[in-house]
Amino acid sequence: MSSTQGAPVSDEADADGQRHAAGTMTAGPRSGAAQVTGRSDGGGNHGVNADYQWDAFDSEAYKEHNYANLRDDDRQILVRIRDFFTSAFALDAPREKWASIDVGPGANLYPSLALLPYSRSIRLYEHSRSNVDWLRAEIFAEHGYRPNWDEFWTVLCERTPYHLLAEPRVRLKEVAELDRHSVLEEPGVLEEPGALDEPGSGAGALHLPAASWDAGTMFFVAESLTGDYGEFARAVENFVRALRPGAPFAAAFMRLSQGYTVAGRRFPAVAITEDDVSELLGKLASDVDVHVLDEAPTLRAGYAGMIIATGRAGDN
Ligand SMILES: C[S@@+](CC[C@H](N)C(=O)[O-])C[C@H]1O[C@@H](n2cnc3c(N)ncnc32)[C@H](O)[C@@H]1O
Repeated sequence: MSSTQGAPVSDEADADGQRHAAGTMTAGPRSGAAQVTGRSDGGGNHGVNADYQWDAFDSEAYKEHNYANLRDDDRQILVRIRDFFTSAFALDAPREKWASIDVGPGANLYPSLALLPYSRSIRLYEHSRSNVDWLRAEIFAEHGYRPNWDEFWTVLCERTPYHLLAEPRVRLKEVAELDRHSVLEEPGVLEEPGALDEPGSGAGALHLPAASWDAGTMFFVAESLTGDYGEFARAVENFVRALRPGAPFAAAFMRLSQGYTVAGRRFPAVAITEDDVSELLGKLASDVDVHVLDEAPTLRAGYAGMIIATGRAGDN
């Protein structure tokens, strides 16, 4: 599997979709400072993934709303995934560090930071051109990612071995690999070799190949990329199937989300609950733990909490 640092290893054709979403809610899926002007119907009338302009996702606005400061719900999630990955790595004692993947990182670095001490590489597998550009600029800036992420790293450093990693900014530059593709594509499709960096070439890499990654994260993606339950389920399935059997993973979900708007642009959601997550992961994984955060849903209107799931990929 080829990869490069700081540049997409592969690139898909532009999704030139129209938005057909109902509702007028204007809030990030995890947006604190959002303006809410109404509510969507929450009934699934949000179209499918291809209906949305992901390349116009305003990454910086999203980061400012959600990750300018560390919220209590993110702190809870960080502690859970920190402890989960630390235990998994200690238990498995792999001969070499993990080849890890974060699906749909958007403008969120903390899943990657949680994987950092345990990973020899972290594939940032993102569909949106603007988010890939943002990730490249953020991670590969001369002095590394910006100070807002230090609060997140501090929580991780409450536990060994995170605090032993003296230069997380340098380390993230060393391990991060950018990849512009969709998690909804069929896993394991081998594309024709081609010009790796040519935008829209769609060539040169496996699309989320099956059983390939040693550890994975997917945060607020599967339920927040579509209004269609089938696509939500496919995103979860493709994510877990991309992992090697037994690979540890963490996935976060907005509970009963009604969709969101980033900087005035509408994006979809499927209003899922912990039962949906448990049912899906129960078929795909072992040691599944699905937890609803006890934080009040104060981030914005139009959702009912956050769900964090951990587990081990099955032999799918
Ligand atoms: C609500 S944001 C979550 C971002 C980030 N993971 C976080 O924790 O805040 C949803 C993300 O899913 C990405 N996305 C949308 N469609 C996708 C697809 N088909 N494949 C992979 N990622 C996709 C978006 O570009 C965006 O980064």
